[in-house]
Amino acid sequence: MKILLKNCNINNQIQNLLIDGEFIHYIGKNVPDSDNEIDIKKLHVIPGLIDPHVHVRDLRQSEKEDWISASKAALRGGITMVFDMPNTRPPTVNLEFLNLKREKAKHSAINYKFNVAATSQNIDDVIRILKTAPSDVAALKLFIAGSNSNEYVEDRTTIEKIFEISNVYNLPVIIHSELQSCIKQYEGYISNPKISDHNFIRNRECAIKSTEMLIESAKKIGNKIYIAHTSTAEEIEIIKSNKNKCRLYCETSPHHLLLNEDVLETAGNFGKVNPPLRTESDNKRILEAINEGTVDTIGTDHAPHLLTEKLKPYIEAPSGFPGLETLLPLLLNQVNNGAFSLEKLVELSSFNSSQIFNLPLRGKIKEGYYADLTVVDMNKQWKIEAQKFYSKAKYSPYENMTGFGDVEMTFVNGKLKYHNNNFFN
Ligand code: DOR
Ligand code: ZN
Repeated sequence: MKILLKNCNINNQIQNLLIDGEFIHYIGKNVPDSDNEIDIKKLHVIPGLIDPHVHVRDLRQSEKEDWISASKAALRGGITMVFDMPNTRPPTVNLEFLNLKREKAKHSAINYKFNVAATSQNIDDVIRILKTAPSDVAALKLFIAGSNSNEYVEDRTTIEKIFEISNVYNLPVIIHSELQSCIKQYEGYISNPKISDHNFIRNRECAIKSTEMLIESAKKIGNKIYIAHTSTAEEIEIIKSNKNKCRLYCETSPHHLLLNEDVLETAGNFGKVNPPLRTESDNKRILEAINEGTVDTIGTDHAPHLLTEKLKPYIEAPSGFPGLETLLPLLLNQVNNGAFSLEKLVELSSFNSSQIFNLPLRGKIKEGYYADLTVVDMNKQWKIEAQKFYSKAKYSPYENMTGFGDVEMTFVNGKLKYHNNNFFN
C-alpha cells in the first residue's frame, strides 16, 4: 500500500511524502504513483513523538488506564512510541511479569517498549531478562525514592551494581532522582501536611543530593544515566557542568517547564506529582536549559490515577496526572510564543530519544525511516477540558488553559491511526 501525503511542510519546505508500507519511501517535489492520496494542505509534518516516560498501568490497575485507552490518548497527542514504566501491579521486575505485560501490550495501537525496574532484590532477574537480548526493553528504571511504589534503592553499592549491569548490556538507566531518607526527614517537620507543603516535603534538596550522587557513580562506572523529570535549577547546573564528564542525559516534564506550585491553589491534588511542581524561577531555568541543550528530552510522566483517589485528602491522594494528550499542544503553543523553535521541539520530543535509546530508523523524517508522522496545525486553537480526554484519567492541572497549535493526524508505521478525533485501525 502506497500513500502519498501531498503538500507537507517538512522543515519549512512544501514537499510530497510517499509512504510505502511501514516506511517513508520518497520525500520531494515529484508526484509519485500511489494507491491513496491525502492533501496535507501545507501543515507541518514532524516525526511522531517518542515518549520515554509513560505509566500505562493495565494489568491489575486497568481501571486507571490500559493499552487501549493509553494508545488513544497517545495518538490524539501525536505520540507514536511510548516506553512503559515498571511500577505497575505486578511490577516489571522479572521475566514472568514482563511476559504478562507483553501480552497486554499486544492491544497497543502505537509502538512501545518497556522499562524494567532494577532494585536490590531483583539483580539476577534483570540479568536473566537482559541475557535474552530483548528488543522490546528500552532501559532500566531505578527509583532513589518511593513514588507510587515502595521500591527504591538508596544504597550506593546497589546503585553501582545496577550501573555495572547497565554498562555491560549497554542499556541506559532512567532514574527517578529524589532521596528517600531526605524526604523522610522533611516529612518529620510538618504535622498536618497539605498540598501546599508537597514541594517542601519532597524538598528540592532531596532531588539535588540524589542527582549529585548519581553523577558521581556514573563517572566511576561509565554507563549511560538519564535523569527523569528534572525539576530544579540546581540540578540543571549540576547536569550542565557534568555532561562532558560522563554519559549523562536529562529529561524534563512539560509540567516542570510550564507549571509551578502556584497552580496548586486552584488545581489542588490534580497538581500533586513527584518530583513536585517547583517555582517560577525553576521554570525559567529549565526553559534556558532546553535552548542551551542541557535538557535532552521531554517525557510526559503520564501517570493516570482514579479521580476518586485524586479527590482524597492530600496525604492519601496518589501523585501524578495524565499527560499524553496535553504534551504536544502545550509545546506547540510554546513554539508559537517564541519560547523555542519547532526544530528544538522535534529534538526534545523524538530525535534525541531515538539516539539515547538506540531506536534505529525512528525520530527523523527521512527516506528509509519508519513513517511515524504527526501532522500539526500551528494555528488551531485549543482549550484543555479533561472531560474530553481519551485517557481514563479525566482531570488535569492544566484545566481550562488555552493556546494555539494542535495535532491533526498521527501515522504509526505508515498507517493513518488518528485524524481530528477519529481513530482508525
Ligand atoms: O507523580 C508521579 N507518579 N511520579 C512518579 O514517579 C510515579 C508516578 C506514578 O506512577 O503514579
Ligand atoms: Zn514517572
